[in-house]
Amino acid sequence: MDSVWCLVLLLAFSVATNASPVTVQECPLQPLGQGQGVKVLYSTSRVPSGCVSQGAPEADQEVHILYLQYGFGSGVSQLHLNISAAEGNNTQPRKVVFVVGANSFSFLTVHAEDLPLTFIYNSENIFLNVDDKETNRTKLPSFASGEELLMWAKLNYGGVSSFTSVESPQRIHFQVGKEIGTSVDCVPETDFDAGQYFEMEVISSEIKSCPHPSKHPGKEAHILWLHQGNQDSGTQAVELNMNVTCDKGDPFKELNVALVLKSRQSLLWNIGSVPHSVQFLASGKYSLKQMKTGEINGITLPDSKEDLIREVHNRGFDFIASYTEIPSANRITIEVVRCAEQPAVTISLPPSSPAHDTTEETVGLLNIVKPWKCLENTVEVALAKQYLRPLNDPITAVTLRDPLCMAQDNTTHFVLRSFLGDCSTVVEKGIHVQNELILTLASQQQVTVPFQCDLPEKLSVQLYPTSEFDLPSTTVEVNKVAYVQVSFRTADEKSSLQLQECSLKTTGKMSLPLIHNGVSAGSSVEVLNSPYNPTGTKIHRFRFMYEAEDGGWSSLSATLVCRVFLNHHDPSSFESSLEVKLKNPNFPLHNQGLGLGTVGGITFGAFLIGVLLTAALWYIYSHTRPLAKMQPVSANPPASESSSTNHSIGSTQSTPCSTSSVA
Ligand SMILES: *[C@@H]1O[C@H](CO)[C@@H](O)[C@H](O)[C@H]1NC(C)=O
Ligand SMILES: *[C@@H]1O[C@H](CO)[C@@H](O)[C@H](O)[C@H]1NC(C)=O
Ligand SMILES: *[C@@H]1O[C@H](CO)[C@@H](O)[C@H](O)[C@H]1NC(C)=O
Ligand SMILES: *[C@@H]1O[C@H](CO)[C@@H](O)[C@H](O)[C@H]1NC(C)=O
Ligand SMILES: *[C@@H]1O[C@H](CO)[C@@H](O)[C@H](O)[C@H]1NC(C)=O
Repeated sequence: MDSVWCLVLLLAFSVATNASPVTVQECPLQPLGQGQGVKVLYSTSRVPSGCVSQGAPEADQEVHILYLQYGFGSGVSQLHLNISAAEGNNTQPRKVVFVVGANSFSFLTVHAEDLPLTFIYNSENIFLNVDDKETNRTKLPSFASGEELLMWAKLNYGGVSSFTSVESPQRIHFQVGKEIGTSVDCVPETDFDAGQYFEMEVISSEIKSCPHPSKHPGKEAHILWLHQGNQDSGTQAVELNMNVTCDKGDPFKELNVALVLKSRQSLLWNIGSVPHSVQFLASGKYSLKQMKTGEINGITLPDSKEDLIREVHNRGFDFIASYTEIPSANRITIEVVRCAEQPAVTISLPPSSPAHDTTEETVGLLNIVKPWKCLENTVEVALAKQYLRPLNDPITAVTLRDPLCMAQDNTTHFVLRSFLGDCSTVVEKGIHVQNELILTLASQQQVTVPFQCDLPEKLSVQLYPTSEFDLPSTTVEVNKVAYVQVSFRTADEKSSLQLQECSLKTTGKMSLPLIHNGVSAGSSVEVLNSPYNPTGTKIHRFRFMYEAEDGGWSSLSATLVCRVFLNHHDPSSFESSLEVKLKNPNFPLHNQGLGLGTVGGITFGAFLIGVLLTAALWYIYSHTRPLAKMQPVSANPPASESSSTNHSIGSTQSTPCSTSSVA
């Protein structure tokens, strides 16, 4: 179907060619801003200046220099740098150093997967945003040009692997881990082909248009002039796509488009997806993928802007929706925003109000800089004014959702600190903190930037007197069951938590193990089921009974220490402790009565019967045994049996107890 009508349209175009020329007054081309309905994106590996060489003398190190140039007044310059390792070479990962400079303030977001990267850059004019926290960052003084930066790197490293100076890129794909150069020195060449390791995507900022109210709504021309490769003669191919979209509602399907593709004669335009009604005027050759046409010879197009426009007018297209010159490309996409509802209005709309752009720009910038931070009990905002310089409409005030929570201006930053319970802050699942920044601009316009940050990861140990785990306490009562909850707050829902060790350390530096290698370290300890917890917190629970054999003390402090292992993106162990008081309510003073051990042993036996009869019997047996020879307990270091471990409780106390009675 498509091919049929496409052919029809091609024919229709030749008819139009023969039609009598429409008389049109001269069309003055005017710059077309972003957000005005046409976007031209292209990708290329050709850069204004670059070189490659053998690199630094150390074989295990690569040094790449990247110099970013932006036109002045280009607003917020944001670049995504995607770094990947060359495939098919499983040699040792080499240390990769990127030395980055820029001629104006740039926001650089780096995507790199597990590569050992070092960034050397000047923080005065580069904001570096790297997902991987391990990345090494080193600050660099500023340099007036890319060449100066290159000189500095050569001196510092004894050589560089590549130097690439780029203009207004949006996204760069950079491959490391390749042998890219053989020459000893890196001497920049102009119009350098960096295709071995580099490709960048650019959104053209040079689009022009005739804001000519169209007499024929839905009929428009787009002119592309590709300057590339005028010097070399080999056939080069460029992929071209065009699509029509609409932000709200259906795109305008009946758009009648003329695509004018001006290039040198040996260039091949591989035309992929294009709107349904499109007509071509191409120099060089072209092929239509949808119709599998093979190569079709184009025509000769005039060599000046005015003549090109005249040619288009002569063929019945008054409205030049876009005119774009592109230095070099291997892929070009034209995106046109035209909605089905009101095509005529959309097309002849005067430049959209700058207010829209300002909002987008401000929100975009804040989301790169992310000036918010969640701490244990507070949300902090510190927005460095240095980063706000690219904004056309300066920020004059910053508040949270609650306008009473206003940031202070300390001359270099807007700073604000609020407690989690204040300023309409919402905490979801006990970890995700949400609020919004409301920015007032110099033009009085307000911009809202919602944000979320997670509370820091935290391990906590808590003690409870009952199995309800509701009211925490800090007192361990002798011969009473105490409940312990070890919880880890993390936003990483995929992680799993293993309870490794817990022990009760008394002031005498004696330690009573409670959990060892994830399991109960003695018969007086029972690991409980962890409750299902829908929040971001992971929980482990157990209960234990602290026994006193010779209750010759009333109160003593101790520390409950637990260590966990967290299995997540970066496996690690954490430790946390809780200061507790040991309390013996039955015997507040020195007690000469029967050994508590017997009482404790019996209570404890009852406690365990439902669980493990043999263990309980063994316990009672082993526990009553030393009663007969009560005096020597502290002198006899316990054996390695688990039940003997309980004895160490007794001996643990007797030592500090005697000390305290001396004091
Ligand atoms: C980075 O580049 C690699 C290879 O070209 C690609 O697979 C990956 O999706 C890119 N990542 C981003 C975030 O662009
Ligand atoms: C970070 O990079 C600098 C400069 O290359 C180097 O001196 C420093 O040792 C590196 N630090 C780490 C932790 O790799
Ligand atoms: C792989 O690495 C080795 C050593 O660095 C190098 O000699 C070789 O050229 C590399 N191969 C490719 C395909 O880059
Ligand atoms: C239009 O092209 C852009 C860029 O290639 C692409 O992201 C977008 O999804 C395309 N839209 C449609 C409707 O094909
Ligand atoms: C302003 O506050 C920021 C963030 O707390 C701090 O880093 C900076 O030094 C402060 N500036 C001045 C001039 O006090």
